[in-house]
Amino acid sequence: MTDVVPPTALSEIKLRLLCQDDIDSIKVLCGDWFPIEYPDSWYHDITSNKKFFSLAATFKGGIVGMIVAEIKGRTKVHKEDGDILASSFPVDTQVAYILSLGVVKEFRKHGIGSLLLDSLKDHISTTAQDHCKAIYLHVLTTNLTAIHFYENRDFKQHHYLPYYYSIRGVLKDGFTYVLYINGGHPPWTIYDYIHHIGSALASLSPCSIPQRIYRQAQSLLRSFLPWSGLSSKSGIEYGRTM
Ligand SMILES: CC(C)(COP(=O)(O)OP(=O)(O)OC[C@H]1O[C@@H](n2cnc3c(N)ncnc32)[C@H](O)[C@@H]1OP(=O)(O)O)[C@@H](O)C(=O)NCCC(=O)NCCS
Repeated sequence: MTDVVPPTALSEIKLRLLCQDDIDSIKVLCGDWFPIEYPDSWYHDITSNKKFFSLAATFKGGIVGMIVAEIKGRTKVHKEDGDILASSFPVDTQVAYILSLGVVKEFRKHGIGSLLLDSLKDHISTTAQDHCKAIYLHVLTTNLTAIHFYENRDFKQHHYLPYYYSIRGVLKDGFTYVLYINGGHPPWTIYDYIHHIGSALASLSPCSIPQRIYRQAQSLLRSFLPWSGLSSKSGIEYGRTM
């Protein structure tokens, strides 16, 4: 691939679905991008099984980026991420899982990763419409570039997954990141209920009494919570294992 990437590269990028003829090229690319070795069957699946949305970004005919995702029912979510969606969503609710997103090093920071992610969102809105409520993925806790990329695009950390990856025999920690779409949301916690009850009370009267009652109730309830000593983000417990 070219060493000199023009600043206008994005305008020359074309998108197309991956096919079996791409297997050799994407094996080389994934070898560069990811520390995990995928089996041959994985490359076969993502280029032939229609359940995967596998999109290539090409520049002058060569692949410079790709995204692979699966849109699936909420019951098919990884066990460790079973609480991505509140149980109030029907069983036929869908989620999208990003298996892979990568861009050739020289082409990074040109908007190609964002283009691929936006294309996945467009695909979701045309195929799953508003039945798909979340897009999620796993990432190494040490992959700060990817973490910043996703956080800057409104993905939120959902789980810390200790020893989630085995990389050349060494166990490494991961995170689950989630982007909620179409009104999707995680299970509500007691904090959410308190917050909403408090907000509802506060909106009833302009005086400060309901706010005070709300704050007292909140602190009283907090002191009774058995997990009040655990650190949490967005109300989700951190200390969970896979
Ligand atoms: C994560 C990854 C896919 C991002 O791809 P990318 O093509 O660099 O993504 P983008 O160019 O769309 O965005 C990256 C940054 O470059 C910026 N950028 C985009 N076009 C730019 C330009 N013309 N000039 C300067 N900066 C630009 C974006 O704003 C973004 O910064 P921000 O997150 O602060 O907004 C890429 O770093 C990668 O392949 N990493 C290795 C594989 C990997 O770890 N994948 C994720 C596994 S979960």
